[in-house]
Amino acid sequence: MDKVHVLDHPLLQHKLSILRDQNTGVKDFREVVSEIATLMCYEATRDLPLQDVVVQTPIAKAVTKQISGKKLAIVPILRAGLGMVDGIHTLIPSAKVGHIGLFRDPETLEPVKYYCKMPNDISEREVIILDPMLATGGSASAAITFIKEYGVTHIKLMNILAAPEGIARVQKDHPDVDIYVAAVDEGLNDRCYIVPGLGDAGDRIFGTK
Ligand code: PRP
Ligand code: URA
Repeated sequence: MDKVHVLDHPLLQHKLSILRDQNTGVKDFREVVSEIATLMCYEATRDLPLQDVVVQTPIAKAVTKQISGKKLAIVPILRAGLGMVDGIHTLIPSAKVGHIGLFRDPETLEPVKYYCKMPNDISEREVIILDPMLATGGSASAAITFIKEYGVTHIKLMNILAAPEGIARVQKDHPDVDIYVAAVDEGLNDRCYIVPGLGDAGDRIFGTK
């Protein structure tokens, strides 16, 4: 489990509680998803390499630290992952964005790819995949496989809510990938929704139900 990071900061738990509430409307849901993404980004980028730089303060020269120019890309899994993009850009405005369109076939529950567009230099970047929900893990595992085909070697997965089944699936298929989640729930219901979960994240972000 050392690749699984459960970020249970009180602010994250509080905001997740708002997402879980079925009475939270679309506007608030979208805003809170974005805020959670910002808070999770802070933790998920803890290992970014630093380099020494010299700056002149109003008083004296100081040797300080700055991020050493490591290139990042974020890849939201459409649709629901889009809800996390602005929150990441709040902290890393220069992160390029690739998109992968996947939906779960409602019958087979297998991920179906319908769109993909990556930055040209994606193979040189560390990639953070964004999706609020990790249920069976099928979508996340397929997205990681796909991004690896571009030659990307450093991949992190950021989900707001996970089921143990989804974590196990990603760890089995991609043991090299660090997984960042705000909570791990009990499991899945017979339609492979996370229990207790928060419902259909895409529908709640975009108001489609
Ligand atoms: C949801 C969610 C994940 C996927 C998780 O997307 O945003 O992408 O399901 O399920 P899995 O772990 O079992 O693959 P959905 O297919 O509902 O598409 P949407 O984002 O367009 O609503
Ligand atoms: N996708 C969602 O949006 N919610 C779930 O609980 C499972 C998959």
